[in-house]
Amino acid sequence: MSRLIIVSNRVNPPENQGQAPAGGLAIALTAALKEYSGFWFGWSGETTPTFTGQLNERTIDGVPVVTVDLEESDFQEYYNGFANGTLWPLFHYRIDLTAYERSFGQGYDRVNRLFAETLAPLVQPGDLIWVHDYHLIPMARELRRLGVTNPIGFFLHIPWPAPQLLTTLPRHRQLVQALFDYDLVGFQTDEWLSAFEAYVTGEAGGARRDDGRLVAFGRTLRAGAFPIGLDVQEFKALAASPLAARSYDRIAAHTVFRRLILGVERLDYSKGIEERLLGLEQFLQDNPDLQREVMFLQVAPTSRGQVEAYQDLRERIDALTGRINGVYADVDWAPIRFVNQTYGRDELAGLYRAADVALVTPLRDGMNLVAKEFVAAQDPDDPGVLVLSRFAGAARQMREAVIVNPYSREEMADALKLALGMERKERVRRWEALMDGVSRHDVKRWRDDFVAALEATQEGLLPLSELPMRTDGHGRSPIDPIPQGPRPPLNLSGEAGLQDHLRAEWGARGSSFGALAVRHPKA
Ligand code: F6P
Repeated sequence: MSRLIIVSNRVNPPENQGQAPAGGLAIALTAALKEYSGFWFGWSGETTPTFTGQLNERTIDGVPVVTVDLEESDFQEYYNGFANGTLWPLFHYRIDLTAYERSFGQGYDRVNRLFAETLAPLVQPGDLIWVHDYHLIPMARELRRLGVTNPIGFFLHIPWPAPQLLTTLPRHRQLVQALFDYDLVGFQTDEWLSAFEAYVTGEAGGARRDDGRLVAFGRTLRAGAFPIGLDVQEFKALAASPLAARSYDRIAAHTVFRRLILGVERLDYSKGIEERLLGLEQFLQDNPDLQREVMFLQVAPTSRGQVEAYQDLRERIDALTGRINGVYADVDWAPIRFVNQTYGRDELAGLYRAADVALVTPLRDGMNLVAKEFVAAQDPDDPGVLVLSRFAGAARQMREAVIVNPYSREEMADALKLALGMERKERVRRWEALMDGVSRHDVKRWRDDFVAALEATQEGLLPLSELPMRTDGHGRSPIDPIPQGPRPPLNLSGEAGLQDHLRAEWGARGSSFGALAVRHPKA
């Protein structure tokens, strides 16, 4: 069997998790390499005065890892600059935050070349190379220049922007052309895939051939949607761990007589934390009788703290939290608890399980694995409710969540009220459907589908329908079709209304502190 070489900027195997906030990429790639021989290559996270190409080799949790240090100027121009100051905001539809500086692009090309020069001698005939995320779009071009002819695939973990946005980037053509040095390019959803195809056919003068391949710049490639998922068994084990139980108990002790609303993500403007706080403020304003009956816990560890937009965000969130707490807090209660710390995924699993509602409301997100982890952590008999932004890739699969527009504070407030008032029967019904999807579209399926499709690119011009990708009949998306028709109505009035749920909750939990450590029902 072929070796699988995984390449990503951030190499974050399990031993490092808990120190830096692990994004979905690191979690998924750890799972991806578990059953394949090969290694994981990328940046060490360290800087050095001069780039040496010195390899740091380790085996962590059975996963061989090879990393290199970068020079400080490379780190600034490539990581803080082009990757996180230009591509990240642009690909998340924030051209107002996008830096269009030429030096950033030069640093980006330089680091991709350095990575390729370091990796190329390690590649053997027959190896499959799988490159991840926006930091490394030109990797295949650089590897090809060095004579690497192996199959190379690319997977984008974040959204692909609409052509109207992408064309604001001075180097847009060069960037897309670089993707045509890959054999296979994967996106999280059919929406991002369509946006890519729209650029190729509309801007680059390319075409989609009958066999499903895209042709442009004198080259062809295959492109598909491969929605990422969880290692469900691993996550369930984390949720059943002593640390998860401990964090569950800790938060339960602080939410007695209250409903817990939870948000968890890296401190990033794409995650919609400010908009979420405004939605919560609207909810408090609209529902004076419920104000003291909820607590919103936002866990948001610092991320990319050297980038100005992230520093500004932190200041705005601090100010907003202070303002809302200032208006609504009482001597023994404040509506918002903002926690700027990194927690292990086991501890987070305990928080997910304790939460009555998870607010996963990014303004734009490639997929969002927090939504899936929240579902996987729930008690099947008494699950919490997922409120999910329609702009997260996950919303295309997780239709049984309460889908919300995070830009509308009124809609956010209504969704919160609806989620808090949802009857147990309805919560269980929705959770079962969500959990079924999370289980079926897991990380193994994502990995195996992608690897099989990459291998198949070497098998001649097969029609796309014959590739090992499940398609929608149009030769594109392996994700489940979105069900049509109206959403089932929810009963928020009468006996099953929110007020009654809250009263029932009070009764169910009792009023003595001693009852707190007991795993209480959610409603
Ligand atoms: O999932 C998107 C992503 O940018 C990953 O590529 C990255 O590893 C993760 O978020 C965390 O970001 P960073 O590596 O910049 O800390």
